[in-house]
Amino acid sequence: MAGRLITFEGGEGCGKTTQIALLSQRLQRAGVTVVTTREPGGSPLAEQLRSLLLHALPSTTETIQPLTELLLMSAARCQHLAYTIQPAHAAGQWVLCDRFHDSTWVYQGHGRGIEPVVIATINRLVLGTLLPDLTLVLDISPEIGLQRARDRDGGNDRFAREELLFHQRIRQGFLDLVEQQPQRCCLIDASQSVDQVAERIWSRVEEMGIGLC
Ligand SMILES: Nc1ncnc2c1ncn2[C@@H]1O[C@H](COP(=O)(O)OP(=O)(O)OP(=O)(O)O)[C@@H](O)[C@H]1O
Ligand SMILES: [Mg+2]
Repeated sequence: MAGRLITFEGGEGCGKTTQIALLSQRLQRAGVTVVTTREPGGSPLAEQLRSLLLHALPSTTETIQPLTELLLMSAARCQHLAYTIQPAHAAGQWVLCDRFHDSTWVYQGHGRGIEPVVIATINRLVLGTLLPDLTLVLDISPEIGLQRARDRDGGNDRFAREELLFHQRIRQGFLDLVEQQPQRCCLIDASQSVDQVAERIWSRVEEMGIGLC
């Protein structure tokens, strides 16, 4: 049985977590063993790093530097890969991951302005030869996505609090990514209803051949 890695990407509040839950249910009904996980996070240590990354430092004078953010995200991914993703993948399970290395490319690259070559090098170092089989990029205007996140829980993490221009760069970064890697990345219009988005995702996932696993 071949394991699969499907990643969900996109800006704040675009619907990643909602759609992962729906796809997971649907795959399980089709007889697939599914592991859902998230980044940053997905292992005990990586979840601790997530708390550090998503919440502002208590100090008013020290901020997380872009390179520190990149290295902590990447450190979390190392743990996540070793303890969650690789074992599940090797066991023939389908891993659905809420954000992955493309978020690093877009947030720390387009968002924070770190040189693409630096991010590409670190991503390669962490991932080795592993790449997602499919990356679903949920696209929505940042205004709507941020409003959804605010309506959900205040939308108050360190990234959600960034200015609108930051979120516009993130959206463009994901759109560029889909254009650059069309075989792996699939653009999904996330402004549609939850059910419509789920149907679009399902039809793309079905193209991968669920019956073959
Ligand atoms: N297609 C949709 N239409 C309207 N509301 C939606 C849609 N999809 C999700 N929502 C709602 O918008 C909010 C954000 O969705 P969700 O938490 O799935 O997004 P997310 O991409 O995981 O956000 P984050 O980037 O903060 O993790 C939730 O309250 C969810 O119920
Ligand atoms: Mg989410």
